[in-house]
Amino acid sequence: MEAAPSTRGGSNPLTKKGPCRGDCEGCTRASAGGTGSGKPDRSSPSVKVTARRGFRRLQIATGAMLLLSSAAGVYLLATDASLWLLAISHAIGLVIIVVMDLVLGLYSLASSRSVYLPSIAAGVLGFVLQAGDVLTAPQYNLTIPYFAHYLFGLGAFDLLLALQGGIIVAGILGRPHARYLARRRMKGGRELEYTKRGFLRALAGSAGLIGVGVIVGSIKIPTGTTVTTQTGGVAGSVANVSGLHTGVPVYFEYPSGYPNALIKNSDGSLTAVSILCTHVCCQCSFDPSYNVFFCPCHGSVFDLSGKVVNGPATVDLPTILLRVDGAGNVFPTGVVNPGPCQV
Ligand code: FES
Repeated sequence: MEAAPSTRGGSNPLTKKGPCRGDCEGCTRASAGGTGSGKPDRSSPSVKVTARRGFRRLQIATGAMLLLSSAAGVYLLATDASLWLLAISHAIGLVIIVVMDLVLGLYSLASSRSVYLPSIAAGVLGFVLQAGDVLTAPQYNLTIPYFAHYLFGLGAFDLLLALQGGIIVAGILGRPHARYLARRRMKGGRELEYTKRGFLRALAGSAGLIGVGVIVGSIKIPTGTTVTTQTGGVAGSVANVSGLHTGVPVYFEYPSGYPNALIKNSDGSLTAVSILCTHVCCQCSFDPSYNVFFCPCHGSVFDLSGKVVNGPATVDLPTILLRVDGAGNVFPTGVVNPGPCQV
């Protein structure tokens, strides 16, 4: 990035009259290799041209990063079903970030100076929200370290984060050019806002847009959840063996909020497993055609005893310990190998 023109002292040396404080056009050129006499060197490019070129390069770099970031977001949305099935509010938030990045990127490449601050604000917000996503892990029954391992292991997510960081860095490096152009009332420079208030306004605007998306995505729509419990049993029991059919799961929560399936095996024995997939904790569903539990997020498959049949999950489903009393009532008593989905 080119050396930027200085506008120290809070005034524009090219537009304001008064004593030189070392930041006039002539001094700037002299310090950059000009005549050294304090007089403008007419043979070197003007400060104005330097600032314009520097700013233009900044906008091209920012625009390209915004478009790439938008593409990385689209890739994530298209390839990671857990975003839609597990955290739809995050998915909608990412959709808004993708659209914002696309629009700002195109305007940046088209040299619109009015998107300078909104672009940096979008970069800051995107970076903070994406990196901060790991803190929402408990909301989805995931431990933070496990979720961080999963999230930062996604190439598209890392690329998105790196690009948002790059937009912030480009914005910082281009500050002197932007400040110069914003203060100088040259043609085409008036629409370039460079104030703290302008930045905060852009930040609040972006946050508001994403916030609306997250709120909309948080609205619970009844989906006919598969988690049910046999009713009419003894307090604390989840079923009675007389009501179980071989190979047909009965669903229950244990501990509260954690879905499990109780299966009566062909030899009459009982098995209970958690149905939260050990990959990223999406809820598995029973597939009666193959007698397996299938995870809709990334396709892991588990047999009825909870063993992994197909990845990406590598860890078997946690097993629920059971006690059956003399009347056939089934009580859960503990969890073996709770895995990453119990916080
Ligand atoms: S959450 Fe990824 S396969 Fe189940």
